[in-house]
Amino acid sequence: MYRLVCISCGADYAPDAILYRCERCGHLLAVTYDLDSLHIDRAVWNARPLTLWRYRELLPVSGDPVTLQEGGTPLYPLTRLGEELGLPHLYAKHEGMNPSGSFKDRGMTVGVSMALQLGMTSVACASTGNTSASLAAYAAKAGIPAVVLLPAGKVALGKVAQALMHGAKVIAVRDNFDKALEMVQELCKSHGLYLLNSINPFRLEGQKTIGLEVIDQLGDVPDRMVLPVGNAGNISAVHKGLGEFIDLGFIDRLPMMTGIQAEGSRPVVDAIEQGLCELVPTEHPETIATAIRIGAPVNAEKALTAIRATGGTAASVTDEEILAMQRDLARKEGIGVEPASAASVAGVRKLVESGVIDRDETIVCVVTGHLLKDPETVIRQCEPPIEIDADAASLLSVLYS
Ligand code: F0G
Repeated sequence: MYRLVCISCGADYAPDAILYRCERCGHLLAVTYDLDSLHIDRAVWNARPLTLWRYRELLPVSGDPVTLQEGGTPLYPLTRLGEELGLPHLYAKHEGMNPSGSFKDRGMTVGVSMALQLGMTSVACASTGNTSASLAAYAAKAGIPAVVLLPAGKVALGKVAQALMHGAKVIAVRDNFDKALEMVQELCKSHGLYLLNSINPFRLEGQKTIGLEVIDQLGDVPDRMVLPVGNAGNISAVHKGLGEFIDLGFIDRLPMMTGIQAEGSRPVVDAIEQGLCELVPTEHPETIATAIRIGAPVNAEKALTAIRATGGTAASVTDEEILAMQRDLARKEGIGVEPASAASVAGVRKLVESGVIDRDETIVCVVTGHLLKDPETVIRQCEPPIEIDADAASLLSVLYS
């Protein structure tokens, strides 16, 4: 059994309340379980396949979920890059290997299942791309309509293609993500659509399983988990899930939660560096990593707690550093990710060079989305294919002359 609890004033709401913020004080809500009553048997869990649904006792969905078989993503050791950076225990959890190519599927399998459980008949979100692609796919699976609002001209091609092909109503707003999120929140309130941005506490329940899988795959708690930060939901979710593992007695410490933002869009980094309790939004966020081009992250309050309570940190990386790491992951490790995802590993490079990260730490970087999400940024960085006449001499001349 679970309740919805305000993270600030502690107000407590019934599990079937359609609420995204505390009615009393306006702060964020979290799903809270009575862990003592759950009777989780670790051996039973371990015998289940490694998917998000291994952890179903720690999820709010009661019936059959709307699932596309998400989770169970690979945890790759980064051997070559680790050697280059002097980090022998460096890993990447490749969330781009989920059904729609990003970690958002973990949030949406739970979020769309909850929409049905709560009797909602249509769903909506604002998105920098991946959330819209994922929502469109899961709404299609559930057989309900989806509306997605995107910042016009600022969403990577693969993501728009997915949202369109899965049949969502795709609307491009002539402004940035933060404005689109404001608009969709109003729309959901006035017209009864179910809001599936990461302000929805059920979505974060799905995403927290990233951290639980890491524990099971590594067989230990990493010293540090590094995530790219946009709307700041994912880092908050992973921290929450690992906190529940502590409360259940499955682990005895938390990793240092470390958030990486792009230089042109770094309100969380500023808040951490300046010791602020409340974040000052970035007015005009800008970065090549369009997934994290967000100036006013709605989950900032949860994320700042996650970082501070675990002795973690936040740092920003330039677009050049992001693209260089995207190429390094692709060419030195065979791992194809989109720019925002490369930000986490680029952040590790920066933090190890500045001495913040110790070389003997076990570090798990979450790489959040697949390379194919943003083909245009990839193509712009690479030499075009070499076109030749269809004969052996031409082939040999481009290879060996
Ligand atoms: N990486 C990728 C690939 C993303 O798509 C996002 C967020 C993030 C990282 C940041 O995660 O928001 O939980 O801090 N994308 C959202 C979207 C905002 O609309 O697809 P966060």
